[in-house]
Amino acid sequence: MKNTFGNQVSITLFGESHGAAIGAVLDGLAPGIPVDEDEIRHALSLRRATGNLSTARQESDPFVIESGVWNGVTTGTPICILIPNQSQHSRDYAALRGKARPGHADYTAFCKYHGYEDYRGGGHFSGRITAALVAAGTIARGALRQNGIQLGTHMARCAGIADRAFDVTDPENDLDFLADAVFPVLDAEAAEDMKDAILAAKEEGDSVGGVLETLVLGMPAGVGEPWFDTVESVLSHALFGIPAVKGVEFGDGFALSELCGSQANDAFRADADGNVFTATNRNGGINGGITNGMPLRFRCAVKPTPSIYKVQQTADFLTGENVELQIEGRHDPCIVHRARAVVDAVTAIVLCDLLAGRYGTDWLGGDGV
Ligand SMILES: Cc1cc2nc3c(=O)[nH]c(=O)nc-3n(C[C@H](O)[C@H](O)[C@H](O)COP(=O)(O)O)c2cc1C
Repeated sequence: MKNTFGNQVSITLFGESHGAAIGAVLDGLAPGIPVDEDEIRHALSLRRATGNLSTARQESDPFVIESGVWNGVTTGTPICILIPNQSQHSRDYAALRGKARPGHADYTAFCKYHGYEDYRGGGHFSGRITAALVAAGTIARGALRQNGIQLGTHMARCAGIADRAFDVTDPENDLDFLADAVFPVLDAEAAEDMKDAILAAKEEGDSVGGVLETLVLGMPAGVGEPWFDTVESVLSHALFGIPAVKGVEFGDGFALSELCGSQANDAFRADADGNVFTATNRNGGINGGITNGMPLRFRCAVKPTPSIYKVQQTADFLTGENVELQIEGRHDPCIVHRARAVVDAVTAIVLCDLLAGRYGTDWLGGDGV
């Protein structure tokens, strides 16, 4: 499928950065899930550019829920969310036509759509489209919450600076903090160092990347399929759809490959009531593609923002000449903190899909009227 993901619960994205509107259709979600428009506004504000760390393109993301929600709850029919575009400076991009911006999809879009693509501001490939994902994901997050599942994401690394790890003794506290944190870093000192590094890159006309780490609490054991629809493969399939995500790892991921089995294995234990858990969680809550009841934990590598002010070498794919490129317009020196809201949203949608596949559509919904 082209712009659609999911089986039981699916998401379809549409729109271009400088077109009339962007949006999403979220289908298959159970009826009876409360939809809080203030919560959607809050999530959109976390994705939006803010302060001196981000692009000057400031949008309030006013959204309209066109269908599928009535009297404050989901009806069970497709939810269409529309976000009109407001801040369009299309002239910034006209002079660039043909000059492939390094790290962007200008050339690949041209190869695929034969020049008919709306290239303004990255068109359909723009990070702007992720606002619709965030709005839809917030509704999915409400469905998870009423079933005792909560999640959150922090910037584990940015510009080579590390945040502290999630506190395994009190992860709920970390998730509460992240729910309202505009700059989602758990350690205050690391947060300041990261901000300094972002501003230093901005000063240079450059950009920096980082790693987002997500924790999901309350996922029941037994969700996922053993081979091609493992929880890892379904989640990473969707997470790689997020622009600028270039790596996904689960649990301790690549670092596990450096350990001995005796170090990498998570010992199984049983509590006084016979409930099984693992003493450590290096495998990120998944064994054999199936959740084991421990917190899900995974990381997404986010590359440095491709649009930078520095002069770059590129090719003009219309004239076939090598040219120098200096991108004008408005750019983020770092998108990692903004991508956090997108990772949360995608995670919520995927987990709703997996849970509805395991327990049926109505499992996520209300008790009926
Ligand atoms: C929330 C969000 C905002 C983004 N904003 C920008 C931006 O302002 N400037 C930019 O060059 N790239 C931005 N990107 C990244 C590009 O859209 C992305 O790198 C580009 O489309 C190429 O896709 P790829 O990196 O997945 O290959 C953003 C990504 C996300 C998730």
